[in-house]
Amino acid sequence: MKHFISLVLAGVMTAVSVTFSSPAATAETEHHDNVLITYFSRAGENYNVGVVERGNTDLLAGIVAEETGGELFRIETVKEYPSAYDEMLTVATEERTNKERPELKTSIENFDTYDVIFVGYPIWWGDMPMAMYTFLESYDWNGKTVIPFNTHEGSGQASTVTTIKGICGGADVMSGFSVRGSVAQNDGESARTIVQNWLDSNNFAAIAAKKTVSYTAQDVRNLQQFLLTKSTGEDLSDKSCDLNNDGKWNAADLTLMKRQILQSQEVDAVSSATITADERAILETYEKFEQAMIDKDMDTLNALVTEDKTFTHMSGKTQTKEEFFGEIADGTLNYYAYKLNDPVVTVDGDTAALTGSTTLEAKVYGSSGTWTLTTNQKFVKLDGAWKLCN
Ligand SMILES: Cc1cc2nc3c(=O)[nH]c(=O)nc-3n(C[C@H](O)[C@H](O)[C@H](O)COP(=O)(O)O)c2cc1C
Repeated sequence: MKHFISLVLAGVMTAVSVTFSSPAATAETEHHDNVLITYFSRAGENYNVGVVERGNTDLLAGIVAEETGGELFRIETVKEYPSAYDEMLTVATEERTNKERPELKTSIENFDTYDVIFVGYPIWWGDMPMAMYTFLESYDWNGKTVIPFNTHEGSGQASTVTTIKGICGGADVMSGFSVRGSVAQNDGESARTIVQNWLDSNNFAAIAAKKTVSYTAQDVRNLQQFLLTKSTGEDLSDKSCDLNNDGKWNAADLTLMKRQILQSQEVDAVSSATITADERAILETYEKFEQAMIDKDMDTLNALVTEDKTFTHMSGKTQTKEEFFGEIADGTLNYYAYKLNDPVVTVDGDTAALTGSTTLEAKVYGSSGTWTLTTNQKFVKLDGAWKLCN
């Protein structure tokens, strides 16, 4: 059955005025004493960087503190870890095998005063160092906003965000970000760009100000219609809905709005009157996939595609999902915002196709820009869930 998702863009060419249900947060760049950047890091010999005076996560945490105006807290163990890399691998294996909880030197005394807590760590054997478990299990995270960040040499976040969600009960654990250790160590400018982009695209100013912004599906439609009739660069700094506080309304604001609706499970990107449950599920799957590319959420990306899924870049280069996701994780490919235009869903039993175009703001292989690409995505329904396939 072919079904045109026409309502999304209904009346689009005539839409000029636009109203939204709640105000945007205001910019907040000064020191934030409710924001804490916690991190564990090890100096000495490490993979790809040689012997270093400051660990990679330590350097990244410093950038996060500068960019957020938060305070720093270093997580340190009573025991000292070996400086030699090979020895360290052995010690880490033992700790992990024995599920150790290494004793920590210090604790955060005024933990209650922090609303937003960044949690930083290196990846050790595809997981957090065991000292992070000691740390996370020592506090009541209820009501906190937790932002994981990490350095690694190829594993990205692995499944650490899921683990943190499991430990930090009652917290709003965000998707977080990761940077290659060698980039944090040797290319601070690129590391800073990754941090800045994450903060911008997640509206950090509003998070730190603890402002709750709440939007409806109608707001998404209004903004989408508005963007289609106005130049995205138009200065709208005095208006609401500038969700990332950059003085403009553009695809980034639309993405933030959509994300909030996706997170609150009120997905209604298209009027419910006109589409079937499968068509809705396919659109939601696609939107979740695009959002996970922005969030560098490897768990979600892997969950939404079939095993043999490949990806073709606009250059024509085709990658396996491991190659593509690996380059998203290591910062080679960075997606900041997306907008799905003119979607048409065609469902045929357990297979489906989504056509239209997708406007992406991205930095790929060092080039920044906004590109509108033809979307021709196939889906297959496996065990009741739609997945992106070849
Ligand atoms: C014991 C140990 C195990 C590691 N395991 C992994 C791993 O599984 N995946 C990965 O991508 N990097 C791994 N690495 C590399 C570190 O994650 C990376 O070098 C990180 O940036 C180190 O951060 P630090 O300098 O803040 O300690 C490992 C490093 C060590 C020392």
